[in-house]
Amino acid sequence: MLWIIQNSKDTPAGTTVEWCEKHKVKYQILLLPQDLNLLPNKLNPNTDGVVFCGGGMNVDEVNAHPWLIDEKKLIAECIKNEVPILGLCLGGQLIAESLGARVSKHSQWEVGWHKIKLDFKNSTTKEITVFQWHGYSFDTPIGAQLFATNECCTHQGFTFKDHVIGMQFHPEATIEWVTDCANSEPQEYPTGQFVQSKEQILSQMTNQQPLQEWYFNLLNDFFKKQLSLFEALGGYEYVEKLVHRFYHLMDTLPEAVDIRKQHQPNLEEAIHKLTFFLTGWLGGPQLYFEKYGHPRLRARHLPFKIGKRERDQWLLCMFKALEDCEVPQHPANDMKKALTHLADHMINQEE
Ligand code: HEM
Repeated sequence: MLWIIQNSKDTPAGTTVEWCEKHKVKYQILLLPQDLNLLPNKLNPNTDGVVFCGGGMNVDEVNAHPWLIDEKKLIAECIKNEVPILGLCLGGQLIAESLGARVSKHSQWEVGWHKIKLDFKNSTTKEITVFQWHGYSFDTPIGAQLFATNECCTHQGFTFKDHVIGMQFHPEATIEWVTDCANSEPQEYPTGQFVQSKEQILSQMTNQQPLQEWYFNLLNDFFKKQLSLFEALGGYEYVEKLVHRFYHLMDTLPEAVDIRKQHQPNLEEAIHKLTFFLTGWLGGPQLYFEKYGHPRLRARHLPFKIGKRERDQWLLCMFKALEDCEVPQHPANDMKKALTHLADHMINQEE
């Protein structure tokens, strides 16, 4: 179970929820203060973690928002028991404060799409544009690692041991929420050197998608949810589309003529079998195994003449199909590597 603590109706859980649904992670959103009595005071062993969302209030405003005291207690409990916690904006500030860092009014408001520099674990992303809406900021707690920074605000994100992440920005931002923020009443709209206008925010929405991808990778890593290649590709429908494209290419490319000749004139059964096989091989349901038994692929290919030339023709069609179907780079590269290995294993003839 992932608990999502929402501090205000106006700062929703955003794409954190989409990520949970994608990974079938059970989650419960608690909107404070109305769900205060549901706040877990003792975290059960099935707790995957807690996400603390943003909110319009500040960490020191406990008189006006007394539930912040309970939230801080929960954070301290999680830190002590090494339960993974992730804080977004106000959530990040609350965590930083619990770890003894100073949280205070920042010299400038930071609002809209702003670049930050990243140095996050082994991630190759070194810079990304994120959505910001903050007038306060945290210092990096002692013992924590700063992993994100920018010109306006040095302390943009930190990790503490392996189970705590605090961020000043909003990686969870959805298009809808950013639009709502941009449409804030003029009297609530901050001013300053790092404040984008409504028009600037709305014209830079293309930043949301890469931000969401980055955030999902972070969540995968943090909550140890690795997608199988099957899920990363987009499931059965996608595999089916890929296999159709693959056999279409085999059927039409002059470079694949030698392997095409070895297949039946009608490719329907081959399409069906390869779709079933790849579904299981990529980590989805074992459809081929259930219908035809163990694949024993090398043995099943012994009646065909497969040398290096045939292997290369097969891989040519498959790699081109992956490109034509616009399979995202990460799963496509992993698939190419694994399929090359498998195709090598299928060789049964010297040249
Ligand atoms: C990674 C490489 C490959 C994979 C994953 C693969 C997969 C498959 C699968 C699952 C089948 C259906 C098996 C069955 O149940 O009968 C099949 C059939 C077949 N494969 Fe492959 N194959 C590979 C490489 C090759 C290569 C290099 C050739 C070159 C000639 C080849 C030629 C055939 C032929 C001729 C059939 C029979 C199709 C038909 O019934 O018309 N395969 N392959």
